[in-house]
Amino acid sequence: MREQAIGAEILDWYDANARILPWRIAPGDRLAGIAPDPYRVWLSEIMLQQTTVAAVKEYFLHFTTLWPSVTDLAAAEDAAVMGEWAGLGYYARARNLLKCARAVVAEHGGRFPTTEAELLTLPGIGPYTAAAIASIAFDRPAPVMDGNIERVMSRLFAVEEPLPTSKPVLKAHAERLTPQGRPGDHAQALMDLGATICTPKNPACGICPVMRNCAARAQGIAADLPRKLPKKAKPTRLGYVYLAQRADGAVLLETRPDKGLLGGMLAFPTSDWSEFPTEAPPLEAAWEDPSAEVRHTFTHFHLRLALRVAQVGAEVQPSRGVFVVRDQFKPSALPTLMRKAYDLGRGTLGHN
Ligand code: ADE
Repeated sequence: MREQAIGAEILDWYDANARILPWRIAPGDRLAGIAPDPYRVWLSEIMLQQTTVAAVKEYFLHFTTLWPSVTDLAAAEDAAVMGEWAGLGYYARARNLLKCARAVVAEHGGRFPTTEAELLTLPGIGPYTAAAIASIAFDRPAPVMDGNIERVMSRLFAVEEPLPTSKPVLKAHAERLTPQGRPGDHAQALMDLGATICTPKNPACGICPVMRNCAARAQGIAADLPRKLPKKAKPTRLGYVYLAQRADGAVLLETRPDKGLLGGMLAFPTSDWSEFPTEAPPLEAAWEDPSAEVRHTFTHFHLRLALRVAQVGAEVQPSRGVFVVRDQFKPSALPTLMRKAYDLGRGTLGHN
């Protein structure tokens, strides 16, 4: 059967070419009986949602050094985890990470459940992550569908229907391809194939282990697939970001509300973000306009925040946030948008 032949070719290729990744058990070790640590599989999969392997590596090593087990992570302070996550983006992932670790400890005795259905009940674990953990950590034949694997399926089977409409068809193909033996390595092999050979542009079909079985290659359309429905243009929202500093060097910071963008993260106070923002400074001061603007793109909109900077007296009482003294202020704990604001304003603040 064609599916079995393709599955075998992909696994053989993986045995010889698997990427070495800090969360991965290499195929030789896996065959020798070394089992993956479900905590490390889960943590890596949460980090890898919407973030590249290159960016995740360092964070993964840092997190597993600070918190080597799910019990350690469950016992961590919220602010410590949010601060270490800063820079990775999509901060709801970090809030759910803590909720999930605490649920695994409180409700599952510190052991991750092994089935897709049980994994799906945990915070932050959706269909993709449940399938990835079930297959990679527990060797269950659950097809793992991410953008890379959708691309591989659409090419292997020359699916002309555009994404996202084609998702169910692509999943059905992936299901037929998933072997009963070594499903975890099969999933990781598809990830590697998508990341290194079956790339979005200029796929390296000449060295692909399944080139003889690829329908899109046979038709000369590999690089044109997957077709995609046009994306909606993103609107732009505007606002102000306020950097206030006291004479002793303390800067005004707040923890953003859990609900909403950058939820739970350390931040400089801002106005609302909208088409027509109202300036709503967190305290009265002679706000300076250094004519600088921070730009950042979120999933559904672009944001431009105009910088406002003020030096304020020791007596002022902000309506929001708290003054944090210089040696307690860790710029590395700021999300990227706020880090950009700080880097723009630090000259005016006299921070070198
Ligand atoms: N992307 C998502 N999950 C991954 C994994 N486990 N290894 C490599 N890339 C991935």
